[in-house]
Amino acid sequence: MLNIAVFVSGGGTNLQALIDAQNRGEIKNGKITFVLASNEDAYALKRAEQAGIPSAVVSRKAYGTKQEYDRAILDQLEGKNIDLIVLAGFLSILGEDLIARYKNRIINIHPSLIPLFCGDGFYGKRVHTAVLNSGVKVTGATAHFVNEITDGGAIILQKAVPVEDGDNEDILQYRVMRQAEWEILPKAVSLFCQGRIKIVGNKTEIL
Ligand code: GAR
Repeated sequence: MLNIAVFVSGGGTNLQALIDAQNRGEIKNGKITFVLASNEDAYALKRAEQAGIPSAVVSRKAYGTKQEYDRAILDQLEGKNIDLIVLAGFLSILGEDLIARYKNRIINIHPSLIPLFCGDGFYGKRVHTAVLNSGVKVTGATAHFVNEITDGGAIILQKAVPVEDGDNEDILQYRVMRQAEWEILPKAVSLFCQGRIKIVGNKTEIL
């Protein structure tokens, strides 16, 4: 059984989707054993508490550089035997040390079809604002591995979602979460825990 740490910053609906999938037995060979929040006000911490999952806050504001923040996160992970880190709405950028330490063992969920509407500055509702301003008719979500390039790691799963006339950021964000993120993130995590994701260069094959 692999130990999973979920990193969060906000509402935690993706954490909830992972907890619900786990309760339905859909995270095969994996268990969420730790939640780390970048912000003490994150509602995601309440979800962790309700599910009986230990959590900690490592506040981004309390550390100057990315390296210092990385060190504080690594200190929290120490001794917990974490096999997989899941960034579920974690809005701080991780540093190179942590990414290298957990190479090919960090999965992120991004609310667009990468390589569109991603990279530095594209997070949360900003992604959906950019999608709406562009006039595209289809958007979606991507579960991918994390490397040193923001949103640049190998793609694991994607799902498309329609953009509809009259959408605003809130409506579109909710549709992308409900139809795509809450489905593909638990699936990607379960595939990882079963050893069914083969990384070939910057691509993946699902075994
Ligand atoms: C989600 O839409 C997630 O995809 C996005 O933040 C939201 C967090 O919601 N993440 C990013 O934009 C990362 N670049 P949640 O806290 O309810 O899961």
